[in-house]
Amino acid sequence: MTYKELARTLPSWVFAIGMLGASLYAQAVEITITCGPSGSDVEFCLKHAQAWAAKTGNTIKNFSPPNSPTEKLALYRQLFAAKSSDIDVVQIDTVWPGLLKDHLADLKPYSQGVESQHFPAIIANNSVNGKLLGMPWYTDAGLLYYRTDLLKKYGLRVPQTWEELTQTALKVQTGERAKGDTDFHGFVFQAKAYEGLTCNAIEWVGGQGGGTVVNADGEITIRNAQAAKALNLAASWIGSISPAGVLNYEEEEARGVFQNANALFMRNWPYAWALMQKNDSLVKGKVGVAKLPGNPSAAALGGWQLGVSKYSKHPAIAADLVMYMTSAAVQKTRAIHGSYNPTLPALYKDKEVLEANEFMGALADVFANSVARPTTATGLKYPQVSQSFWNAAHEVMSKRTTGEEAVTKLESRLKQIRRKHW
Ligand code: GLC
Repeated sequence: MTYKELARTLPSWVFAIGMLGASLYAQAVEITITCGPSGSDVEFCLKHAQAWAAKTGNTIKNFSPPNSPTEKLALYRQLFAAKSSDIDVVQIDTVWPGLLKDHLADLKPYSQGVESQHFPAIIANNSVNGKLLGMPWYTDAGLLYYRTDLLKKYGLRVPQTWEELTQTALKVQTGERAKGDTDFHGFVFQAKAYEGLTCNAIEWVGGQGGGTVVNADGEITIRNAQAAKALNLAASWIGSISPAGVLNYEEEEARGVFQNANALFMRNWPYAWALMQKNDSLVKGKVGVAKLPGNPSAAALGGWQLGVSKYSKHPAIAADLVMYMTSAAVQKTRAIHGSYNPTLPALYKDKEVLEANEFMGALADVFANSVARPTTATGLKYPQVSQSFWNAAHEVMSKRTTGEEAVTKLESRLKQIRRKHW
């Protein structure tokens, strides 16, 4: 039987289905995304990317990036400089849109206006020269995790100031160690020399009236007595209420210690909450979340977006994945099972989201008032500003200099970086 004869004997819809299948098959591509490697990131990111793949007939490849956002940025910059098409979908930190603007595709042609359902401040942060460079995926703010059982046992309250945290941590640590728990620490946080230390140090300095390193007008404000005092207080924690190892801790190291019941307090982001509730967590049912100490409390603003590399060979399909991953349905499951804070205000009224994460409702003011790192004022020089700041903080905490000397030196370093203008 010839093709023509066959065509005559079969109903036309059989051909229609065949053609559709063939055209989908022809379009099916492999999209590379950067999921992980920390916490539940791989699990949630890959699970939803795979679900999209199953739905669309495309396939997913994971390009697992380094843990530290500082190393991630360096890697992406290298790939972008080479105009590499190795990565289609990129995770973008809240402090990066301006830095990566030349290498990210505008998502507006694909978003169909859905960005208007997200927090306007995040959309503004992700927009450069009228282009939407990233769809908001989740938002972050620094939080204080504490052991409810231990504060109760010692009759102590959640600390309101950083001095109070220092005293409370010492009291409980001394008590627990006397009882034989020699590995117990008062406070764990992130003090490795990387972007995470900038977030932590901004919280101590801002929470003690020392400002944000560079203010909204672009003035260098770090050389002040409160900032110096805040750094000195942080230095006093090392080897006292905090293990010397914190000088090399990122988020996951701090979480490991706290989740193994070896610390009273931990500074971390919301994602840690869901992991504390798992069966393998030794602190399940014994953890509270509060706003960070300080007057005013100055939680650092963080968060991640998904964007499409300008060098992707399949920008429209990659953008489809981005829209799926950042959709309300996916953000809702990520919030319920992974405690990732949604970027859609409507989800903060969702009963299931709030039941799984009481803090998302109770600490609404922390998220609303979190403190941005000085990216807007310093523009493309932000990475240098941040690096100088975290190095200064790290030196003080390593007891190589004092808070006073460090803020003086940092001021002149920042002046050099700024030269005439940022
Ligand atoms: C979190 C934040 C991000 C920040 C990073 C620092 O991932 O969301 O904004 O830069 O921590 O480690």
